[in-house]
Amino acid sequence: MPAFSDLSQQDPSEQALLQPAGWNGQGFDPPLQLGVMASGNGSNFEAMEMAIRRGDLSATIRLLVVNNPGCGAQRRAERLGIPCSVMDHRLHQDRRELDLELVRRFQDAGAEAIVMAGWMRIVTDDLIQAYPNRLLNIHPSLLPSFRGLDGVGQALQAGVQISGCTVHLVTEDLDAGPIVAQAAVPVMADDTRTSLAERIHREEHRLLPIALMHIGQRWRQG
Ligand code: GRF
Repeated sequence: MPAFSDLSQQDPSEQALLQPAGWNGQGFDPPLQLGVMASGNGSNFEAMEMAIRRGDLSATIRLLVVNNPGCGAQRRAERLGIPCSVMDHRLHQDRRELDLELVRRFQDAGAEAIVMAGWMRIVTDDLIQAYPNRLLNIHPSLLPSFRGLDGVGQALQAGVQISGCTVHLVTEDLDAGPIVAQAAVPVMADDTRTSLAERIHREEHRLLPIALMHIGQRWRQG
């Protein structure tokens, strides 16, 4: 069942999570103008768009940028009718040049904030400084545990019984920026990397729109 599809069916504590202080029920005016960066499957990108269409997230995705031509995220954007720009990192001289071009495209698209939804590249200061406190990442672990690559595999390897996902602001230190929102996910004794990753993914799809609504209040309050 899609998360938060019917507010009347939710318990009040969940509704409170969805409706941060100051939320007037009408959404942001204008809606949050988002840019999204993705490298692979793009399920978080699509989850954000679905939350927007359900009315759970007051936002517009102005532009998706992908770095792998033909990746799942690009195909989802085509299906959903969302503008998508391909920026193959292999064709760029270095990270800095790629990031400056990213900034240009997002600014041209009118994005006020950017979500890294499965962007598998390290970003430079040029991107971070262009969107101060407005560059978000989603990571498949309860940070500060299991930063970096393969957060799911790291959690399994460590034998933890609870893992989860984190939405955080991006700073120069990898996966170490201020935490915006987290969701916990149980680790089952018979979990494989795939089964745990799927459970975490489902929570990510719920968490990202909630995190955006919360931090969106801060952005709009200046
Ligand atoms: C997610 O697990 C996210 O936490 C990580 O990359 C994955 C992207 O998944 N940063 P998808 O492409 O959105 O399906």
